[in-house]
Amino acid sequence: MKKMFLLCAAIFAVFCTVGFSARAEAAGKILVAYFSYQGHTERVAQEIASQTGGDLFAIRPATPYPGYDECLDVAKAEKNNNARPAIDGRVENMADYDVVFVGYPIWWYDAPMIVLTFLEGYDFSGKTVIPFATSGGSPLSDSLDSVRAAASGATIGEGILANDIDDVAPWIAGLGYAK
Ligand SMILES: Cc1cc2nc3c(=O)[nH]c(=O)nc-3n(C[C@H](O)[C@H](O)[C@H](O)COP(=O)(O)O)c2cc1C
Repeated sequence: MKKMFLLCAAIFAVFCTVGFSARAEAAGKILVAYFSYQGHTERVAQEIASQTGGDLFAIRPATPYPGYDECLDVAKAEKNNNARPAIDGRVENMADYDVVFVGYPIWWYDAPMIVLTFLEGYDFSGKTVIPFATSGGSPLSDSLDSVRAAASGATIGEGILANDIDDVAPWIAGLGYAK
């Protein structure tokens, strides 16, 4: 009887191990990259990393943006000039990631130009890029054409406008990336 119990326990343990590792493999390795000027998008990025077990990467401008009023003008000029503002730092091990969440505030009804600098800096072939944003009311959809064009080779996943942090958990669960 005891042997039978031990055998069942061993079989159960093997099934659990195989089951969990299969799920981890299906999700692949996750990166949560984000640009945030005032901290809202950063908070969402941290929540996504915590829900998925992904690594965080902050997209930081080589030249910091000025205070709010001036930043409005700088960001507008960058958009009008189709600029690609330089980023401080790089994801050296991008090849390791299968899924890359990319977050940003909506700026002038689009993704900030620095997010395009980031997306154009890597080969996303074979990877899934999932956009998320915060805004003062503009929808995520305003930015999707730019993201699609800049993320060469990527499959674009179902993104979210995450102005309400409580929307993150059900969205991640729906994508199948909850850890
Ligand atoms: C330069 C600039 C442009 C903005 N343009 C828009 C916009 O077009 N639509 C909108 O709803 N909010 C706009 N906002 C507001 C931000 O999208 C919003 O406050 C966002 O949550 C900020 O995210 P962050 O804290 O991660 O920087 C803009 C803010 C700035 C600084």
